[in-house]
Amino acid sequence: MSQKKIDKQMKQIEDKRAKGRIFKKDSSFLKTEENVFDVPTLKLLYTLSNKGFISELGGSISTGKEANVFYATGNEGEVAVKIYRINSSTFKAMDPYILKDPRFTHIRHSRKDIVFAWTQKEFQNLLRIGKAKIRAPKPITCDRNVLIMEFMGKDGAAYPSLKDIRMDDEDARRIYEQVIEDMRRMYVRASLVHADLSEYNILIDPENAEVIIIDVGQAVTLNHPNARDFLARDIENIKRFFKKYGISEETKDILERIKQKKEEDEIIELDEFDEEPVEPSESDEEEEEEEIGYDNIDDKRPNNTDK
Ligand SMILES: Nc1ncnc2c1ncn2[C@@H]1O[C@H](COP(=O)(O)OP(=O)(O)O)[C@@H](O)[C@H]1O
Ligand SMILES: [Mg+2]
Repeated sequence: MSQKKIDKQMKQIEDKRAKGRIFKKDSSFLKTEENVFDVPTLKLLYTLSNKGFISELGGSISTGKEANVFYATGNEGEVAVKIYRINSSTFKAMDPYILKDPRFTHIRHSRKDIVFAWTQKEFQNLLRIGKAKIRAPKPITCDRNVLIMEFMGKDGAAYPSLKDIRMDDEDARRIYEQVIEDMRRMYVRASLVHADLSEYNILIDPENAEVIIIDVGQAVTLNHPNARDFLARDIENIKRFFKKYGISEETKDILERIKQKKEEDEIIELDEFDEEPVEPSESDEEEEEEEIGYDNIDDKRPNNTDK
């Protein structure tokens, strides 16, 4: 969506608000792409565009279970905008990852708060992962349910995921080694377990066949009570994928390699990015719903059947 279009939609909202004529159902015209653009999200995108992070919101890159990813350009160049849906029916699936994460025990547990914390967790995880010298999108900013990060692709096209590339056994072996090394760096340097690692969340830069790790919202620190199980699952996923390329390493050997410290490793302290969590920006969403509830609106539209 272009800046112009966002401006236009914002103006429509403002006009209606001024006339006291916003209805819950009115916001539905913004709910394209499966509810991504609810009114608060649209306002947030507007704010982010005022700050220059987004000057042109381009096409959808992906529609996932919990989030949509869009291509955009802004003052940081090409970016990917990941928008978590507040109304995602699968948000419950986030609970085990975030509720037991010692870094996030202070958050209130409403649906919205979980989604905001989740977005922030992905931002912080991307920082840690970048610092551990793992190739991953550089996080640019995050607010509420929106994360803006470096776009991993070329000329507006995202790099292919590992599942979509063709490779011979030799290429596969090199990529496998990179993946294991990234898991090791994540574990040893960043104290993180990805927890959703598979051929879907690994992109390949076709220029140099380099591995790029994405989708780290659910990654947990090693002190998370389920960290071991998540790591075991990640290893099994990677083993399963590479088996068809003739790679079969014992789980215990992989685990040993992942946990192995090397001289060049710089350990990132656990509290390094988590001392001052980014506060989500204010929204008048709640007040709005109260102020404009159906009861106190005199709706004169002819075909209104909502009363
Ligand atoms: N930074 C990025 N640059 C380019 N493409 C991206 C980026 N982040 C995500 N994508 C694309 O969007 C898809 C979904 O993103 P992901 O973070 O895995 O979300 P989901 O939780 O929906 O799986 C990815 O498979 C990839 O194709
Ligand atoms: Mg994914």
